[in-house]
Amino acid sequence: MVSAKQGASRTARRPLVSGNWKMHHDHIEALHAVRDLGLRLKREEAALVDVSVHPPFTDLRTVQVLLEGEGIPVMLGAQHCHTEDAGAFTGEVSPRMLARLGVRFVIVGHSERRRLFGMTDEVVAATLVAVLRHQLTPICCVGESAEERDAGRTEARLEAQLRGALAGLSPEQLGSLVLAYEPIWAIGTGRAATPVDAQDAAGFLRGIVGEIGGAEAARSVRIQYGGSVTAENAAELLAEPDIDGLLVGGASLQAASFHDIIRAVVACYRSDAA
Ligand code: PGA
Repeated sequence: MVSAKQGASRTARRPLVSGNWKMHHDHIEALHAVRDLGLRLKREEAALVDVSVHPPFTDLRTVQVLLEGEGIPVMLGAQHCHTEDAGAFTGEVSPRMLARLGVRFVIVGHSERRRLFGMTDEVVAATLVAVLRHQLTPICCVGESAEERDAGRTEARLEAQLRGALAGLSPEQLGSLVLAYEPIWAIGTGRAATPVDAQDAAGFLRGIVGEIGGAEAARSVRIQYGGSVTAENAAELLAEPDIDGLLVGGASLQAASFHDIIRAVVACYRSDAA
């Protein structure tokens, strides 16, 4: 039995559950998925937990119109963006364009962007600045590979990624961020990190934010866990003191499984308030 979120009311960090759809769902499928989610998600749940969905770029306008038109309490997110607002960058989408569509969150530096598309720590840092320039909230992803974990290099890897990404941000900006701890070996594998390992990493990341930006930034920054999150493991991950939310891939594609995860998070926070 998982206990209530220890100290949740004390820290006052709102939980954030984000669905990263990756390259899944065309705009028609997106419409159905979000409408279905809207029917399931209760106002009381949305009052306790922030929820975002991150569809492919081609779906954003459709999902924006649906969310706004029907008043569905889900925030719109993107999966990536360029560092510039406009220019000769064939195939790219700018943070300004996302802001104009009502996007609120942008995933920055997902391991698939780093690994498959050559996104470096420098580009991650520049993208964070670009996203913040438009008053959007970045969800900055960090995480170690299986080899790095096996070699005892998890903390060194996380620290290098985090310091590389956050250089140049003010303490206020640091405090407004969302970080996502996503161990690469847990993504899409069905093998989530244990709550203890996820907490160790999240606590470590919060400590680094404190070193860079001070105690207030460390207290405010929200840290998600991501990697094979399901309705079964959501509550035990969320019960950890430094884990404030979840970044969900596969289980976010269907409204039923995504809503089950949201419900597990709500239960965690509701029992704390009781
Ligand atoms: P997963 O993906 O939940 O399918 O493991 C998580 C992610 O890549 O953000």
